[in-house]
Amino acid sequence: MITLGIEGTAHTMGVGIVDSEKGVLANVIDMYRPPQGGLHPREAANHHADAVAPAIEKALSEAGISVKEVDHVAFSMGPGLGPCLRVAGTSARALAYSLGVPITGVNHCIAHIEIGNLLTGCDDPALLYASGGNTQVIAYADQRYRIFGETEDVGIGNMLDKLGRELGLGYYAGPKIEELARSGDVLLDIPYSVKGMDVSFSGILTAAVAHRKKGRRLEDICFSVQETAFAMLTEVTERAMAHIGKDQVLLGGGVAQNGRLREMVDEMARERGARMFVPDRQFCRDNGAMIAWLGSLMYRSGVRMEISDTEVRQRFRTDEVPVTWRS
Ligand code: ATP
Ligand code: FE2
Repeated sequence: MITLGIEGTAHTMGVGIVDSEKGVLANVIDMYRPPQGGLHPREAANHHADAVAPAIEKALSEAGISVKEVDHVAFSMGPGLGPCLRVAGTSARALAYSLGVPITGVNHCIAHIEIGNLLTGCDDPALLYASGGNTQVIAYADQRYRIFGETEDVGIGNMLDKLGRELGLGYYAGPKIEELARSGDVLLDIPYSVKGMDVSFSGILTAAVAHRKKGRRLEDICFSVQETAFAMLTEVTERAMAHIGKDQVLLGGGVAQNGRLREMVDEMARERGARMFVPDRQFCRDNGAMIAWLGSLMYRSGVRMEISDTEVRQRFRTDEVPVTWRS
């Protein structure tokens, strides 16, 4: 069965195509980059509206199939930014309707896990999902993917992007901060904020900006922010693994592209006799293939949706979805 998946929760318009037998056939990513400042939901949505049809065509040609061979359409139903979600939803409904094929709306966070399971060979991990809008530790227990820990304020990527703006590094600052951090060596005082299993990042941002005002080097600020924030994530991930007895850890989300985060989680995993798994970069960040793959799993496990069941949900929680595709 061939599923075409449309991702559109935030800045990325992605179209992926998967075959239930052969796996990923195409993964086209078109990211909106605001000319300046942060991400404006309506401007991102306008970008997606322009980008979706070309992305579908490109994905079909990458997969080497015609649109008539698509058996099923999936899309990111939430969580995310309303205007962006509605573009993905409307596009998916129109495509499914015109092809006369079924449609499945999927949870974006769960899609990050399932594409990792497919591509890395792990089967029962704790997922550290660290992206712009989301920061959660998720694992499977009792027919649900449950959230064991999460951010109390912003996602870690949003914090890095805001910091990037304050420091004049431009939007989508994660990669730039990573690069600068490599030349940092002074660990500045930055609040380490873990409460129970949850983390918070706003204090880190405030402290980092204050260090800059005091004339500290950009390199040291980036280094200190990374060391502190990633140590917090590693700690809650480790505690979740211990608590639920998982010996696999999977990284997902755009921030999982960061080499230092990978190093810290990998070291933690090895020390506990566990293993870390990370999918290829294009499948860590937001992408259509993961949406198609989760849609395919859901559909094949018997989930059926009418168009009227596919209303987008900005605050769609990971643990609301009954997991019907795992035994
Ligand atoms: P979601 O909708 O799941 O919240 P998103 O819209 O934030 O996702 P992603 O592509 O998953 O999209 O993640 C983007 C984030 O990843 C941005 O905040 C970006 O700065 C951050 N990022 C990208 N590369 C790196 C890196 N090398 N190090 C740290 N952060 C990074
Ligand atoms: Fe994401």
